[in-house]
Amino acid sequence: MALAVRPRRSALYVPGSNARALDKARTLPADVLLLDLEDAVAPDAKEAARENVLAVLRAREGFGFRELVVRVNGLDTAWGWADLAALARAGADAILLPKVESADGVRRARTVLGEAGAPAELPIWCMMETPRGILRALEIAEAPAVACLVMGTSDLTKDLHALHTGERLPMLVALGTCLLAARAAGIAILDGVHLDLSDTAGFAAACRQGRELGFDGKTLIHPSQIGPANAAFGPDAAAVEQARRIVAAYEEARARGAGVAVLDGRLIEALHVREAERVLALAAAIAERGG
Ligand code: COA
Ligand code: MG
Repeated sequence: MALAVRPRRSALYVPGSNARALDKARTLPADVLLLDLEDAVAPDAKEAARENVLAVLRAREGFGFRELVVRVNGLDTAWGWADLAALARAGADAILLPKVESADGVRRARTVLGEAGAPAELPIWCMMETPRGILRALEIAEAPAVACLVMGTSDLTKDLHALHTGERLPMLVALGTCLLAARAAGIAILDGVHLDLSDTAGFAAACRQGRELGFDGKTLIHPSQIGPANAAFGPDAAAVEQARRIVAAYEEARARGAGVAVLDGRLIEALHVREAERVLALAAAIAERGG
């Protein structure tokens, strides 16, 4: 089973302007750290935030398995070009572009990165948070180097003139459209944030909904959200056991010369085995990083 599955259950935004938070992030069990130069940073703190994040990347020790992704400012702002130029060779695991609306937007950012010496294979992650971006989800997901879509549900709710609701019905078309695009392109996709930090039941429900829809994980704004997100998006012991049984039942059927197996009265086909193998690979990768 040589499936490469990278856990991205929890992706915490860490404001680049907050030195204490950047430091604390080393100790937090988030799979991904989104080091933020954009929305979480006030205009007069942009340059200092960039320097803080560059310093974190220079002294990477201590971050272990955590993926370090930097969210830059847009190229249509006063800071976007300098962010990309400074980060090109700084060793980030990926660059997260805000408000991506087309494959051409990705290409323009990659041109700036390339001219500043970035490796050609530097992964690009894209914020999906405007109506035009959602409508062009597939061309964005299929653009060269794009490795992950990140839902920006706060901006999107505002642009749609929609409301934040518990069941997120106003978001479902956009969430589903981007999921289709990410899976068609074979890349990762993360759900949007839950803004109410005191609403733990609502947060758990949103995680469950994101998992049911097919998201790899959820973007987060506070350390208290990491544990519940890891639990919701990682397979639990029962799911791992069931995946093992599916693989075993299928192998046993194949050994008998049958193309399908029956487990607990349910038909098992090759497609169920592939999904079971993905679950086992994800569980193994999570176990490798200590849970
Ligand atoms: N990343 C890393 N550490 C964080 C953190 C984050 N996003 N948010 C809070 N912490 C740390 C705090 O530094 C504090 O650490 P300490 O007790 O060791 O000093 C601890 O977690 C508890 O924090 P708390 O006091 O509960 O929250 P706060 O008042 O410091 O911060 C927010 C609350 C909302 C301002 C903060 O969580 C934040 O800035 N979140 C990110 C917002 C963001 O990125 N928005 C843009 C994307 S939507
Ligand atoms: Mg945004």
